[in-house]
Amino acid sequence: MKERDQDLDVQRAEDVVARVLARSNRSPEVQRVEGMSLAERATSLQSTRGQAENSAGALEREARAGTRRVASLSTELEDVAEVEYRQLRLERVVLVGIYGFDAEEAENSLHELAALAQTAGSTVLDGVLQRRVTPDPATYLGSGKAKELARIVESVGADTVIVDGELAPSQRRALEDVVKVKVVDRTALILDIFAQHAKSREGKAQVELAQLEYLLPRLRGWGESMSRQAGGRVAGGEGIGSRGPGETKIELDRRRIRTRMAKLRREIKEMKPSRETQRHSRRAGGVPSVAIVGYTNAGKSTLLNCITGADVMVQDALFATLDPTVRQAITPDNRVYTLVDTVGFVRNLPTQLVEAFRSTLEEVADADVILHVVDAAHPDPIGQVHTVMEVLGQIEGASDIPQILALNKADLASPEQVAILRSKFAKAVAVSAQTGAGIDALEQLISTTLPRPSKYVDVVVPYADGDLVNRFHEMGEILKEEYLPAGTHMVGRVDADLAYELSLVDVS
Ligand code: GTP
Repeated sequence: MKERDQDLDVQRAEDVVARVLARSNRSPEVQRVEGMSLAERATSLQSTRGQAENSAGALEREARAGTRRVASLSTELEDVAEVEYRQLRLERVVLVGIYGFDAEEAENSLHELAALAQTAGSTVLDGVLQRRVTPDPATYLGSGKAKELARIVESVGADTVIVDGELAPSQRRALEDVVKVKVVDRTALILDIFAQHAKSREGKAQVELAQLEYLLPRLRGWGESMSRQAGGRVAGGEGIGSRGPGETKIELDRRRIRTRMAKLRREIKEMKPSRETQRHSRRAGGVPSVAIVGYTNAGKSTLLNCITGADVMVQDALFATLDPTVRQAITPDNRVYTLVDTVGFVRNLPTQLVEAFRSTLEEVADADVILHVVDAAHPDPIGQVHTVMEVLGQIEGASDIPQILALNKADLASPEQVAILRSKFAKAVAVSAQTGAGIDALEQLISTTLPRPSKYVDVVVPYADGDLVNRFHEMGEILKEEYLPAGTHMVGRVDADLAYELSLVDVS
């Protein structure tokens, strides 16, 4: 596309960016940035600087921890890892995107990128959108737009540019040369956020694996830009079967990364049985489960808290939850079930991270009911529902599981928006996890959707076997309960295991 045509869209793109900024920056100080001249924007930063420095400090600590983790590979690799992990030290960022024909889609995507950047602890200062069908092979943006970006970066005092796409190493370098600050892409940003949020041993191992996968094809890029290309005999690589003359240090690093990745894969595989055992024991106890899925920031954790009274971390940030959280809940007719909170979905999830989702996705495949939560106040809730459905469709066994769709944040969404969603998804329930509106109806729907215990029983349980009565209460459906001299007379439905145990003690 010609540069002149692109400029025709500049005005429109600027409008789009202004809207994105208005929606994404939540603190009052940052909100003001939107309507200011560039010089004023830079000054207004002073008021948010203390806060930014605090989070930057925390990020630096995270960065060092992350670097240490990968640095244990080898001292040589430490250099590479440090270059990679510098992305964690993002503070004042400018976003960049390109779009073909759909400006609205680009706006939503840039909005999500802004939210991701804020989750990583950055302040979003400005954004640049360029209309061009394919990225420029050299600098991603066209050369004129790249220069305009450099001017914006300088005037707002940004230290990072985040590109809403995936950059080839050469594009990243070339764009860095023009804008004179570091440039990162969407994938690297998401990987960083995951690295910050992974809590379990498995989650951490999966994220490290994803980071190494991302790093591997980019090693040459990093190496060249740092003039680290080394031929001949390099320290540490002289053992049998290691290297010959002319082999580069990058190849050595690459081999070490591959070895580390193989080790991580083995470790992740070994961690599996314990998770499966845990799940198996839950199932063996006859407790049905509901998996909460949905786009990131849809309100899954808030809903889980609302239903179970649990105190799960809720943040107005993406990916607050990375590892699955399991809580117990009770249906209105007093049956116990488990609610599993899962990691949020995101559009264009980096392929390297799909594996990192496995632990939560497997929980989904094992659930009796899938509770799909969508943010009804989001600009594109229907797009989000489709993304989630598409991913669920790829999980073996998930398509056979009954689904409930909850239109969350009904308190924020306009009544028209909720009406549109309800006409599209007839069985959806509108709720607000924040105010509690609609939660009763949702719980009722969960209750009727959960599988009912299969065996009808009519038994008298001796008082000495009170634990069986308790289990009846927790897992069964009680139709009648009375106290007789011989024991508790119970009529209702339970699963086959409990029915068998009850038959052994029955004195009726
Ligand atoms: P991830 O962990 O990133 O996947 O997010 P999540 O889907 O678990 O979202 P979370 O529960 O952390 O909520 C995200 C934000 O939305 C928080 O600021 C919540 O307070 C807010 N929120 C959640 N539900 C509602 C709601 O019904 N109404 C309103 N107004 N805000 C809500």
